[in-house]
Amino acid sequence: MGNADPLRRQARAITSLQNQSVKAIRALHMRKVRRQSGLFVAEGASLLLMARDAGWPPTTLAYLAASAKAGVNAALVAWACAAGAECLEVAPAVLGKLATKDNPQTVLGVFEQRWARPPDPATLPSSGLWLALEGVRDPGNLGTIIRTLHAVGASGAMLIGSTVDPYSREAVRASMGSIFHVPLLRLNCAAFLALRSQWLGEVVGTELSACQDFRAQPYRHPVLLVMGSEGAGLSSALAAACSRRVKIPMAGRLDSLNLAVATGLMLYEVCRERLKL
Ligand SMILES: C[S@@+](CC[C@H](N)C(=O)[O-])C[C@H]1O[C@@H](n2cnc3c(N)ncnc32)[C@H](O)[C@@H]1O
Repeated sequence: MGNADPLRRQARAITSLQNQSVKAIRALHMRKVRRQSGLFVAEGASLLLMARDAGWPPTTLAYLAASAKAGVNAALVAWACAAGAECLEVAPAVLGKLATKDNPQTVLGVFEQRWARPPDPATLPSSGLWLALEGVRDPGNLGTIIRTLHAVGASGAMLIGSTVDPYSREAVRASMGSIFHVPLLRLNCAAFLALRSQWLGEVVGTELSACQDFRAQPYRHPVLLVMGSEGAGLSSALAAACSRRVKIPMAGRLDSLNLAVATGLMLYEVCRERLKL
């Protein structure tokens, strides 16, 4: 390759779709493979820069050779190689098969998934804000919500019950890299209810049948905000566990707001006092 950079000299040039590393990255499109391997893919320099900011190095970096001579991709390759990642210089046709078709990028990374432990309610900071999402189905909604949690400086998200995979490519992409900055954990309903029973602040449920306006009174922190699924809404078990249930008013005759929009409105209302320009 005639490459004078000692780090980039570690990189392997790949032109074949039959290469084992290429096949392994392609297989991460499948949820089953992500679950078994504990890995996921993030595409594009801006997401990888968010990973670097979070101190979350890739296990593998694949990039177009021509794109890494200078600029941001060169910096990403140097970072990934220095962190011990497998660095693959791939041909355009190979990257075309690795990347999502409607989102062509010049670089992508494979990362280990991280799952947080449940917070200890006894030691939570009084400003703490956690989101519980029950049965979220749409990866775009989940990624958008993770991005909004990052924006408001929330403590993290609990995924309750059977949910979409936050490490799917669509969710990672919709998070715009905030997936690297927001702690995520999975809980079943019983574990969530046990955690809730020790919660010292308010547990706020959002429901279309609630009678209280979501702006009626300030929220007492630490707040645990509970949102229902796109189809069924909040289950009766989780609704009954909330200390306050609120509704976002709607003027038009419609069923509900989109989950990500409703979550965004709630998060900004809960943070009204502490989030200033
Ligand atoms: C698309 S909605 C679910 C609609 C579902 N058909 C139902 O009856 O609840 C998804 C979630 O967003 C939240 N949500 C949407 N619109 C809301 C509103 N106007 N007020 C309060 N929460 C809302 C709730 O948490 C709800 O469970």
